[in-house]
Amino acid sequence: MPNSSASIVIPTYNERENVPELLERIHRSMGSLGDPFEIVIVDDDSPDETWKVASQQSNGDPVRVIRRQGERGLATAVLTGIQAANYDLVVVMDADLQHPPEKIPELVSLVQNGADIAIGSRFAEQSALEGFSFSRQLLSKGADLLARTLFRVIRSIKDPESGFFAFKKSVIADANLSPVGYKILLEILVQGDYKTVSEVGYTFDKRGSGVSKLGAKNAVDYLHHTSSLFLRSGEFHRFWKFVAVGAVGIILNLTVLYAFTELGVYYLLSGVIAIEAGLLSNFILNRSWTFRDRVTSGLRYTLTALYRDHAVRFVGIVLNLLTLWLLTSLFGLYYLTSQLIGIGVAVLWNYSGNHWWTWAPTL
Ligand code: GDD
Ligand code: MN
Repeated sequence: MPNSSASIVIPTYNERENVPELLERIHRSMGSLGDPFEIVIVDDDSPDETWKVASQQSNGDPVRVIRRQGERGLATAVLTGIQAANYDLVVVMDADLQHPPEKIPELVSLVQNGADIAIGSRFAEQSALEGFSFSRQLLSKGADLLARTLFRVIRSIKDPESGFFAFKKSVIADANLSPVGYKILLEILVQGDYKTVSEVGYTFDKRGSGVSKLGAKNAVDYLHHTSSLFLRSGEFHRFWKFVAVGAVGIILNLTVLYAFTELGVYYLLSGVIAIEAGLLSNFILNRSWTFRDRVTSGLRYTLTALYRDHAVRFVGIVLNLLTLWLLTSLFGLYYLTSQLIGIGVAVLWNYSGNHWWTWAPTL
């Protein structure tokens, strides 16, 4: 029998009305598994004294209450709880009964059976969203779109912003985590080290008692968090590597053009050779440096990537020329200014193409 021991980490802020029912329902659902477990409540010194209620209502389960003073924030509270957890399997959930405790055994068993992270998802099959207003759903969609644009690792995950999940502590053993605001799972998914993620649907219920702590400040926090995460995630560095490689390509292009022409080759033919030399240098350097972590070995892989890179850059050239023409002839810009903008458009296009297609790991 695999061991289903888990630490359940619960951040709280003014949840005194919800804690008794929460602990009771956890007691029943975890009791069905039969292994020891613990509950770690991280309370940010709630004015309603949630910390006091929590330590009195244990139903005989090991409940530990960490009362943080002088610090606020859901994500950092969760991190504090994870660090204090005694078991290698950690479950994170909210205290307000929007995350059904009855689902915990399913999350735990997914991790036991090999998943590194198991997510209680609001958008998987058999999910329902009862506790979200229309405007909140809209905001949530926008936030999700932003995250998906910035972080390709979460593309295949339906609910990377969930607050209900289980994972192995080893996932974050070497991770540089410094979340701001709410989205601790997003931080773990971008910075953690893992292979398999499973998702199970659940009904995001209406809040038990009290009100959500999410407000306008959280939207600001979210932008702050995603941009800081992006800068830490390496994806930002990747873009500048790509630009540096491109600069090397341009220098090589000019050198080859000059050398061949001086050797007596017709300059337009030299130009063609120079373009291909630049493309190949870009390809080789991006393969061994910029996108090194994505590369799979094998000739077929390399040839496919080579073909894709050429296709992307061909369209890039067309976009460059189109911009040059549009801005100069239609908007009356000086042609060198238009060209500068055209190059910018092409670089962004080429980078996106390389990022999402040429070096897609699933190639
Ligand atoms: N310690 C601590 N400190 N806990 C906090 C804080 C804080 O500053 N702010 C909120 N919490 C606790 C709440 O007491 C609750 O247990 C949990 O964190 C979630 O807070 P809510 O205010 O109820 O958030 P929500 O329902 O709007 O959003 C939640 O659900 C979404 C869907 O799963 C959050 O978990 C989101 O991150 C999640 O996307
Ligand atoms: Mn809630």
